[in-house]
Amino acid sequence: MTESCATKTAQRDGRIVIEDDWPGYSLDLFTYPEHYCGDLESVYIPHGVIMDRTERLARNIMDDIGDHDIVVLCVLKGGYKFCADLVEFIKALSRNSNKSLLMRVDFIRLKSYLNVLIVEAIVDTGKTMNALLKYVEAFQPKMVRVAGLLVKRVANGVGRLPDYVGFEIPNLFVVGYALDYNEYFRDLNHICVISEQGKMKYKV
Ligand code: HPA
Ligand code: MG
Repeated sequence: MTESCATKTAQRDGRIVIEDDWPGYSLDLFTYPEHYCGDLESVYIPHGVIMDRTERLARNIMDDIGDHDIVVLCVLKGGYKFCADLVEFIKALSRNSNKSLLMRVDFIRLKSYLNVLIVEAIVDTGKTMNALLKYVEAFQPKMVRVAGLLVKRVANGVGRLPDYVGFEIPNLFVVGYALDYNEYFRDLNHICVISEQGKMKYKV
């Protein structure tokens, strides 16, 4: 591996930081659905890396709040894969430890005595997160934590950063792993960057 390649990612503040000049991996190195042939520029974060990172976030969450019952709030639809995988990893850790964790995945019902874990795929301006936090905090839960798979480096980033961050990425548009472009690409398992052809093809 060349030096420039090795320095493209770094770990800072308990997250993987992807630098602005990271070009992604060549599509030839991975597989992806044939119907997206020509529609992608690169594999930005391979599925396996997403899964490995999610497994570690699950462990951090278990270490912090594994002694309490948790209600998991999934921010749809982009968050459903991350949420489902995160919950599976937390369950597996719970099974393999002597902690017996009661976990419920919920979308609306909240009770004041519960601990809430909000799970979102992408946090950029933080506006969605702030609105959601305000809503959830009105129920006066015991504790509210936020897990975000991706946090974008945006100039006008406002509000609270997730407590658990998978990757910090440049301010660019990505798809896959349930993230969409006009409802397309949710079925792609890697996180990818769209090509010009892809943008044209699925434009509305
Ligand atoms: N991809 C898909 N959906 C999004 C993104 C993105 O990069 N940012 C905000 N919503
Ligand atoms: Mg969308």
